[in-house]
Amino acid sequence: MSEECYDVEKAIRQRKAIRRFKPDPIPDEILYKILEAGRLSPSSKNSQPWHFIIVKDRKKLSELSRMTYTGDFLATAPLAIAVILENAKLETDGARAIQNMTLVAWKYGIGTVWITNFWDKAKQVLGVPMTGNFKLLTVMPFGFIPESEKPKGKKKRKPLHEIVHFEAFGESWSFLSTIDSE
Ligand SMILES: Cc1cc2nc3c(=O)[nH]c(=O)nc-3n(C[C@H](O)[C@H](O)[C@H](O)COP(=O)(O)O)c2cc1C
Repeated sequence: MSEECYDVEKAIRQRKAIRRFKPDPIPDEILYKILEAGRLSPSSKNSQPWHFIIVKDRKKLSELSRMTYTGDFLATAPLAIAVILENAKLETDGARAIQNMTLVAWKYGIGTVWITNFWDKAKQVLGVPMTGNFKLLTVMPFGFIPESEKPKGKKKRKPLHEIVHFEAFGESWSFLSTIDSE
C-alpha cells in the first residue's frame, strides 16, 4: 500500500478508520516520521500547543482502553500516541496535527483512528500535569493494517452537490452537473 499512497489525493480517498491492527511492531524510524508530521503542522499564530506521548506499554494501553466508551480496541494496538494540547486557544490546532499524522501513517500502511471521550483519569495514567491548562484530545492507536481492513469500495460521504454552494448558500455550482461525481 505504501508506494501508491504517496499521492496525497489517493491517500485521502483511501484512508479509513482502522480499529484492528496487525501485531507487528512499528519501527521507530516510521514512528519518528509520523510524529514529525504532527510537529510540522500549522497552528494558530504558530502556537504549536501539542505534546505527543508514545504509549507502548501493554498494561497502560489496556488501562486507557477502559477509560473511554468508544475505543476498547485501543488495547489491541501495538502502540498509541496521546495528543495533549497545552494552553490551546483552538482544538482545531490539534486536529491539523492528527490529520497529518494519520496521512503519513497511511503512507506506510499504518492505520489509526481518533478516539474521543477519555475520562479525566486517563491524564493521570499518562502522567499529564493536573495543574496548568492541559487537554487530552485523543489517544490514537497505531498499527499495520491487516488485509481484512484494507479499503474496499467507496467512502460513505454526502455528494458534493449537497454541500457545495456557488456564490451564496443554496446556489448550485454548474460544473458539478458536467462531471460524473461520486
Ligand atoms: C473528531 C473525531 C472523533 C472520533 N471519535 C471516534 C471514537 O471515539 N471511536 C471510534 O471508533 N471512532 C471515532 N472516530 C472515527 C469516525 O467514526 C470515522 O472517522 C467516521 O465514521 C468516518 O469513517 P472513516 O474514517 O472510515 O472515513 C472519530 C473521528 C473523528 C474525526
